[in-house]
Order: sequence, then structure tokens, then C-alpha cells
Amino acid sequence: MALATKSSSRVELARAKVNLALHITGQQPDGYHLLDSLVVFPQIGDRLAIETAGELELRLEGPFARDLTGPAEDNLILKAVQSFAGKAGIDIPQVCLTLTKRLPVASGIGGGSSDAATTLRLLEDFTETYLADDEMHALALTLGADVPVCLFPEPQIMRGIGGDLSPGPDLPACGIVLVNPRVGVSTPDVFKAMERRDNAPMDLMPEKFETLPSLVAYLETCRNDLQDAARSLCPEIGQVLSELEAETRIDLARMSGSGATCFGLCDLKAAMEIERTLRAAHPDWWIASGPLS
Ligand code: C5P
Repeated sequence: MALATKSSSRVELARAKVNLALHITGQQPDGYHLLDSLVVFPQIGDRLAIETAGELELRLEGPFARDLTGPAEDNLILKAVQSFAGKAGIDIPQVCLTLTKRLPVASGIGGGSSDAATTLRLLEDFTETYLADDEMHALALTLGADVPVCLFPEPQIMRGIGGDLSPGPDLPACGIVLVNPRVGVSTPDVFKAMERRDNAPMDLMPEKFETLPSLVAYLETCRNDLQDAARSLCPEIGQVLSELEAETRIDLARMSGSGATCFGLCDLKAAMEIERTLRAAHPDWWIASGPLS
């Protein structure tokens, strides 16, 4: 996915992280929840560019840049740079990072986590300083529970509080439509609103799903255990799910993460047409489509 422009600059797609299934199986004494989740990274994301500069700089642009409120030093990208330099034992790299924020913020598709993970990978190449896998994983985990999984944007199974990772199944070529009603949902609030925290894990998963119907048949045995809680806090999620379920070309509709973004799985050929249809009916919603992996 890397697009080299010249030796001192590079652009990368920081892919959205979508939980095709998210089971909450327990809670640690520190309050964090135990999960069992199948995570995928569609070809939809933020754009992150890195280039040489006189000093460390972060530029924000794109349709959702204005939603990144708060001081710049709180941005996970800058935190990732500081942590990387500390762990690698190098000076703060003199780079300009330009984030084109195309994914809605606080929306259950790991935009900030993916930006941070992509920053770490770009910095490794840019400084030619490579951390051992376990060091990189530990560093990523200090930035957020979802950051380690975003270091390898391919199907993965997440367990523990999100840091126990194993390779996910091979997926069929198919499409995904992402829909967000442009309402932010607070992840801690959703976790708090959950009724049960001791749900069953996902059923044993095959190593490969040959077709979209076989993937959907498996996913129908799964859930997003945060969906009802998120829906009770944000009724617009119910409306998005109803619209996706009513679309006959969509085979499975579900919420990702703690919401409010929901997804629909479909044939790749239908994805863009579904996006257009939904956008015409709901010009105020954020809608994107693309290949599932
Ligand atoms: O680690 P991250 O910043 O992504 O988590 C955001 C919030 O989500 C946490 O403060 C916590 O309330 C909740 N969370 C949780 N269990 C997890 C991951 C996140 O309770 N495994």
C-alpha cells in the first residue's frame, strides 16, 4: 500500500479497523474488558504522509480534521513519535506528518489507533531504526488497546483486552459499506452501559472462508456485544442498522467497535452502488465503501 513519492517522503493509507464480530467475555479488576473479536482492515482509511522537515510538525487536513479538537500534543500521532524515539533511543525525528482525516473520529473504526500504528511503521522506515516485534507491540499497547492490532492491517483475532493477537482467516473477495450517522459515541460510556460482561466467546473459526455466504453464515453465529448498549445511548445507530438490513444487496449488517459506525457486507461489485443509494437517501450520513481486505 506504500506509495513512494521521493526518497524523503512517503504516503500511507491508515486503514479503518472493523470488528466483524466483537464478543465481551469478562472484565479485569482494573475495569478493562476482555474481548474476543475478528478484526479486518478494509481499503478505506485516513491518509498519512511523512516528509523531512526542520522540526517535528503535525498538519491536519481533510473532512474530519476539525473534529480533532484538543491540544496537538494529545494527538496520538505525536504521542507515537515521542514514544518511538524514547524506545529506539534516538532524537525526536525532524519530520512533518500530514494527516488527511477521512474517517469520522470516535466512531468505532479505530481511526486514531490506525493513525498511531501507521506513524510507528513509517518512523521505523524513515529513521531506519527497527524495533523487535515484542518491543513494538508493547510500545503500541501503551498508546491504546487497539493500536497493536493496527500494526498489521490484515484479518486478525483479538483477545485479552485487545493486545493478544493471532492471525485471522483468509477472507473471500467481497465489499464493505461503512455508515456513520455523524454522531460521536463515548467508548467508556458504552462499556459502562452494557448489561452483561460474561458472554460466550466466538465459535471455532475455520482458517479460510471461500465465499461471502460462508463468511456470513459464520458471522451470523457471532455478535457485537456492545451494539445494544451503544444503540440505547445513540438511537441513530438503530436507524443506520435498519437501513442496512433493508438493503437487499447487503448480506450482513452490524455495528463495529463501540459505534456509531456500522457496516454492511456485500458483493464487491455492488458496494459502490449501495454507497450511492444510501448517500442519496441520507446526505447527512458519512458513507464509504471498498474491498473488505
Ligand atoms: O485503550 P483505549 O483508549 O482504546 O480504550 C478506550 C476506553 O475503552 C477505555 O478507557 C475503557 O473504558 C474502554 N475499554 C475497555 N476494555 C478494553 C478496551 C477499552 O473497557 N479492552
